[in-house]
Amino acid sequence: MNRHLLSIDDLEVSDIEDIFTTAAEMHDVQKRSVKKLPALRGRTVINLFFEDSTRTRSSFEIAGKWLSADVINLSAKGSSASKGESLRDTVLTVTAMGIDGLVVRHGASGAAEQISRWVDVPVINAGDGTHEHPTQALLDGYTLTRRLGTLEGKHVAIVGDLTHSRVFRSNVKSLVKLGATVTVVAPPTLMPAGVADWSKEAGFATSYDLDPVLPEADAVMMLRVQRERMSGGFFPTAREYTVGYGLTRDRLSLLKPGTPILHPGPMNRGLEISADAADAIDSAVLDQVSAGVAVRMSVLYHLLTGEPQGNEGVGE
Ligand code: NCD
Repeated sequence: MNRHLLSIDDLEVSDIEDIFTTAAEMHDVQKRSVKKLPALRGRTVINLFFEDSTRTRSSFEIAGKWLSADVINLSAKGSSASKGESLRDTVLTVTAMGIDGLVVRHGASGAAEQISRWVDVPVINAGDGTHEHPTQALLDGYTLTRRLGTLEGKHVAIVGDLTHSRVFRSNVKSLVKLGATVTVVAPPTLMPAGVADWSKEAGFATSYDLDPVLPEADAVMMLRVQRERMSGGFFPTAREYTVGYGLTRDRLSLLKPGTPILHPGPMNRGLEISADAADAIDSAVLDQVSAGVAVRMSVLYHLLTGEPQGNEGVGE
């Protein structure tokens, strides 16, 4: 396994499988009344978040704490970044305190990789602009594997605002690596430039039309319309977006029975996903959140202990 987790490109299929195996053990820990494992006792992890986050930051925090690491949260608001300190100075300052790992979220694509060149501790990308969000893709892959048994030959539809989505980029890479067939669906204005070439190279399909894709899917992943990253109108009205691309109550009947519905959150209920879909019996949204802690425990464990594979040392 690489020293850092900046992109799904850093992982071989066997690395992903190792992460899932350890995550499954960590998942069992979540069910205990006493959740702490000693694996990262004495280590310190900093969560450096320059963009808003609910689940990613809290699940990295819980993951670190359940492995007995000391976890410190720093956000741009409330740190010297808001006083004009450069990213490099902020990063060098926190690492000079003697930390063992850095979890970074930043609005600029490539920020995590840039930071990894400045520091000598493992860096985990928790979302960099519209580039990648590898731990989200891993927790999605883990959730799907648990639901579907294997991803080999399974058809996953990824639907929504692809242009602004780092979750889409990381997921396509990881799902294809795991043997899934992937179709991505978006209106033409939210289909990223260059996707035609990338899809040919990486082996996934693209579509502007949701209805024919849904009956063929073994899982459907809805993505948020990221209004905060939009300048100008990418679609005429919210209503029009929902009619074309929302997982509405009517569209649920197009899915095969038992098809898991995923959404990384935060959800815009009534826009890309209806309440009926979000709360459906086959909704995997809360499973994704719970898997997020287990998968992040696994990633922290592998990167910070340098254990290439296996679970020796996870300990009781
Ligand atoms: C995603 C993100 O921040 O990239 N959310 C998340 O990490 N759970 C997706 C989104 O913001 O829509």
